[in-house]
Amino acid sequence: MTLREGPAHLVRRHDYTAPAFLIDSVDLTLDLDPAKTRVLNRMRLRRNPAVPAQPLRLDGVEINLARVLLNGSGCSFRIEGAQLVLERLPEGPEPFDLELFSTCSPQKNTQLMGLYLSQGTFFTQCEAEGFRRISYFLDRPDVMARFRVTLRADRAAYPVLLSNGNLVEQGDLEGGRHYAVWDDPHPKPSYLFALVAGKLVQREQKIISRSGKAHTLQIYVRPGDLDKTEHAMNALMAAIAWDEARFGLPLDLERFMIVATSDFNMGAMENKGLNIFNTKYVLASPASATDADYANVESVVAHEYLHNWSGNRVTCRDWFQLSLKEGLTVFRDQEFSQDMAGSVSARAVKRIEDVRLLRSNQFAEDAGPMAHPVRPDQYAEINNFYTLTVYEKGAEVVRMMQTLVSDAALDPLGRAGMARGLRLYFERHDGQAVTCDDFAQAMADANPGSALAQQLDAFKRWYAQAGTPRVQACTEYDPALGHYTLSLSQHCPPTPGQPHKEPFVIPVTLGLLGPDGRALPLQLEGEGQAVADSRTLVLSEPQQRWVFTGLAGLQSAPTPSLLRGFSAPVILQGDFDAAHWLALLAHDSDPFNRWEAGQQLLLRQMLAALRQSAESDGTIPATVLDATTVQALSAVLRQPGLDPAFKELLLTLPSEAYLAEQVQQVDPPRIHAVRQAVRSQLAQALYVDWLWAYEAHHEPRAAYRPDPASSGRRALAGLALGMLCLAARSNGDTVWPGRAYQRCKDAAHMTELQQALQALLHSGHALAEPALERMHQRYRHDELVLDKWFALQASAPDQNGTVLARVKALLQHPDFKLRNPNRARSLIGTFCHANPAALHRPDGAGYAFWRERVLEIDAFNPQVAARLARALERWQPLVEPYRSAARQALADVARHPGLSPDVHEILTRALASDA
Ligand code: TRP
Ligand code: ZN
Repeated sequence: MTLREGPAHLVRRHDYTAPAFLIDSVDLTLDLDPAKTRVLNRMRLRRNPAVPAQPLRLDGVEINLARVLLNGSGCSFRIEGAQLVLERLPEGPEPFDLELFSTCSPQKNTQLMGLYLSQGTFFTQCEAEGFRRISYFLDRPDVMARFRVTLRADRAAYPVLLSNGNLVEQGDLEGGRHYAVWDDPHPKPSYLFALVAGKLVQREQKIISRSGKAHTLQIYVRPGDLDKTEHAMNALMAAIAWDEARFGLPLDLERFMIVATSDFNMGAMENKGLNIFNTKYVLASPASATDADYANVESVVAHEYLHNWSGNRVTCRDWFQLSLKEGLTVFRDQEFSQDMAGSVSARAVKRIEDVRLLRSNQFAEDAGPMAHPVRPDQYAEINNFYTLTVYEKGAEVVRMMQTLVSDAALDPLGRAGMARGLRLYFERHDGQAVTCDDFAQAMADANPGSALAQQLDAFKRWYAQAGTPRVQACTEYDPALGHYTLSLSQHCPPTPGQPHKEPFVIPVTLGLLGPDGRALPLQLEGEGQAVADSRTLVLSEPQQRWVFTGLAGLQSAPTPSLLRGFSAPVILQGDFDAAHWLALLAHDSDPFNRWEAGQQLLLRQMLAALRQSAESDGTIPATVLDATTVQALSAVLRQPGLDPAFKELLLTLPSEAYLAEQVQQVDPPRIHAVRQAVRSQLAQALYVDWLWAYEAHHEPRAAYRPDPASSGRRALAGLALGMLCLAARSNGDTVWPGRAYQRCKDAAHMTELQQALQALLHSGHALAEPALERMHQRYRHDELVLDKWFALQASAPDQNGTVLARVKALLQHPDFKLRNPNRARSLIGTFCHANPAALHRPDGAGYAFWRERVLEIDAFNPQVAARLARALERWQPLVEPYRSAARQALADVARHPGLSPDVHEILTRALASDA
C-alpha cells in the first residue's frame, strides 16, 4: 500500500522564486517494459547565477531510484518527501553532469499521469507535474532544457517509437528489441515532454508552408481507425495556414505529429511536435461522429496546434500563469473557428455557443466556492485549476484586450491592434517563461494611446479579482433636446477571500435603434459628428454617464442594444420591458444581441413561472409564454434569409444550469419541470411551424458534410423533430414517434441517429427502448459511440426517478469500464453534471450514488474523481431537502481517510462556504 501525498499544503503565487539551477541538456534513455521501465536520465546542469547558492532539489513521485552519479562518480544524496536533495555540488558557475538511474511501473499507473499504458501502447502525460513520475527533475515550467531521447522496446509489441523533435537514429537490438533516438532542437520545460510506443498506423501529409518550407504532418491511430483521421488532418492544415496568415506565426518543426489514445484525463495535450489526443477529439466519421464532434475535433486540433506558439515558444513562468497560455490559446482557437465558419451569421453562431458555455458554466464557477481569479493566488493541486475560469474567462480577457486596442475608425474588423500586440509579445519573449503581466504589457506597448494602454493597471484587475461583475444600465431621453443619457454602474459580489473589489475596466459595445428599428448615428456630447452606428464605451469607474446628442426629431426614446457581441464577461442588468426585447429581437443588426433578446424574453417568463410555482401549490402553468412571445418566435423560425443554425440557437430554451444561476433558491426538479412545460407549449403552439421546419431542412439523401451551413440545417431539423415528438405526446399522435424510430433505423449518419433517439427519449416515448437496443447492437465495437450510448441514457429526462436506477444498472453492463475516463464520464459524469433533475432527489439517493463513485474513482484516478466531486459544490443555494442532504454527502466524503489532495481540495472549499 503506497502512502498518499499527505495533507494538502497550499502553493502560493507570491512565494515564487527563480530556480537555483538550470538544466542545459537532458539525455534520456528509456527501456520500455510494462511492469518495470528503466529510465536513465543524464543531465547537464549549472547554478543559476542570479540566485544565491542552495542545495539542488529534484522532484520525483513513485519512482524507484537506483543510482546517482555526479560527474561520473558516486555522491551523497538524500530523499526528502517527494524530493531528491543534493547538497555537495561544484560551487562554480561551470556546468556539471548528473546521472540518475531509476525505474517506474507503467502498468500500475491508473491515474494516467506520467508514463502509462493504454490498450497495450505506452503514452505519457506530463502537464502539469507528470514528468516527476518518470524521472527526478526540476519539474517546473521555467526550467527549459534540450532533450535527446532514446527509446528501447520489443519490436513486435511496440513497432512505433515516438518522442519530440526529429528522428535521428533507429535500429535493431538483440532479443527482438529495437530503438529510436529523437532529438528536439527546441529547449522546452518538462511538461512538454512526450513519448509514445506501440502498434499504431499513420496518415501522413506533406505540406509546403507560405514561407516555402517543407513539413511532414502525421496522425497516429490504432489500426482500423485510419479512415477516421481525415477531418483532423484537414483541421491541422487549416490551423497551420491560419496562424501564418493571420498572425505571421509559422510552424517551426519539420515534423508535426498527433497521436490518439482512448485513455486520457483531458481533451488533448500540446507536447512539442508530438500532440497527444483523446480519441474523442481526433477520430471522426459520418457514421460515428455528430456535427458537434466534428466541430470539437476542428477546434481542439487547432487549439493544440496553436499552443506551439502560445504556450510552447513562450511558456508560463509558474502554474499560476496558466491562463497566459490557455486563455490566449482558447481565444485563438475561437477566432480560428469563427474565421473557418465564414459568413457573418456563422461567426455569430460560434460566438453564441462560446458565450452560452461561459454563462451557464463559468459564471456558475465564479459564483460558487471554487471561484478564483483568472490568475489564481494559491492552490493545493494545480490539476484542479484547469478550469472554465482559466480557459474561457481567460479567453474573454484577451478578447476584451483586442477590443480595447482596436481603432474602430481605422480598422473595422478590430484585429490590427491584437496582431501588433502578439507580434511584440513573441518578439520580446520568444524562448522565455513569462507572466500574464508580460503579455498585457506587450499588448499595451504595441498599442500606445489605446484605451488598454491608458488604463493598463486597472484593466489587469481582470486577472486578479474573481467573480462576475454586474453592470446596471439606466437610460433617460429628452425629446426636446434630442439627448439620450446612458448611465452605467458596476459592482461585483464578494468571492472566497475577496470581500471587496476594485472597479473593472469594461468595454461596452453598443448601438441605438430608432422606433422603426433602424440604427441611429452615435454622437457623444462634445463630438463634432456621429462616429458610427456601433461603438465601444469603456466603463472603468463605479458609475459613469454618457450623453448621446443629435437625436432631435426623435419623439420616443431609442432602444439601446448594449454589450453587443458580448463585449465583456459581465451580467447586464436594467429595467428593460418586453417591448425592449421584442424590438431588439425584430431589428437588432448585431446577431448576438438579437439572440440574447430572444433568450431574455424566454428567461423572464420562465423565471416568473418558477416563482409562481414555488409560491403556490407547486403546479406548473401549462402556458408559460405569452402570445406575443410565441408569435415573435414563430416569426423568427419562418423568417427567410436567416441562417437555420441561428434559428436553432434562438429557439433553444435557456439551459437548466443557466436558469439555476438566475435564482437565489434553486429547486432543480422544479426548474426542469418549468423548462419541460415551455418546451411542450412551444411544441404545440408552433406545431405547423415545426412541421414546415422539419420538411424544409431535413435532407435524408444528402451526403454528409460537416460545414456550418449543412450542420445548421441538420440542427434545426433535429430541434423540429424533437418538438414534433413532444407534441405527439399530448395529442396522442403516433406518426412522429414512428418516424423518429424509423430515422434511428435508417440514419444516414450519427447526427441523425442521435437526434432521432434524443427526440424519443425526451418525449418519453416507449420506442426509445428498442432504438437504444439497436444502437448498441450496431455500434458495440465503437468505443466513442458506446460513450454516447451511455450518455444518452444518463441524460434522459427523469420520469418518476427511473434514471438513477438505470444508471446504476448500467454500471454492471459488460461494456461499462470505470477505469476508462471517457466511459466513466459518459455515464457517471453525465448523470451528475448534466442531469440535475435526476441527481437532486428528495430521498438523497442521487447524492449517495455520487459519494460512492467519487470514493471509488479517487482510489485510482484523483484527477477524474476531483472533476466528479465538483458536481455538488453548489449545494448552498439549493432548497431543502436537497441542501442539507448534499452538504451531508460532501461532509461524508471529506471525512474519508486517504482522500487524494485533488478531491480533498474541492471538498474543503465546498464545505468552507458553509456559513
Ligand atoms: N494543456 C492541455 C490543453 O491543451 C490541457 C491538458 C491536457 C491537461 N492533459 C492534461 C492538464 C492533464 C492537466 C492534466 O489545454
Ligand atoms: Zn490548452
